[in-house]
Amino acid sequence: RSRRMVAVRAQSINPEIRKNEEKVVDSVLVAELSKPLTAYCRCWRSGTFPLCDGSHVKHNKATGDNVGPLLLKKQKE
Ligand code: FES
Repeated sequence: RSRRMVAVRAQSINPEIRKNEEKVVDSVLVAELSKPLTAYCRCWRSGTFPLCDGSHVKHNKATGDNVGPLLLKKQKE
């Protein structure tokens, strides 16, 4: 009985956002949270990256994935 070798190639999670950068990093200063809620993309498919534009809904339907945004909420005083 032979054992079949399967080559596993790592898939890129980021299809097209800022591919000219070695590493995509975004920073948010807490003082910038002027709105009560800001959604940051974690699916790498947003047209307004790093902000979420809802593109994760289409991606999840197409792939069965379950990704969603990181929500930053302004703390109530
Ligand atoms: Fe990427 Fe919403 S568009 S998490």
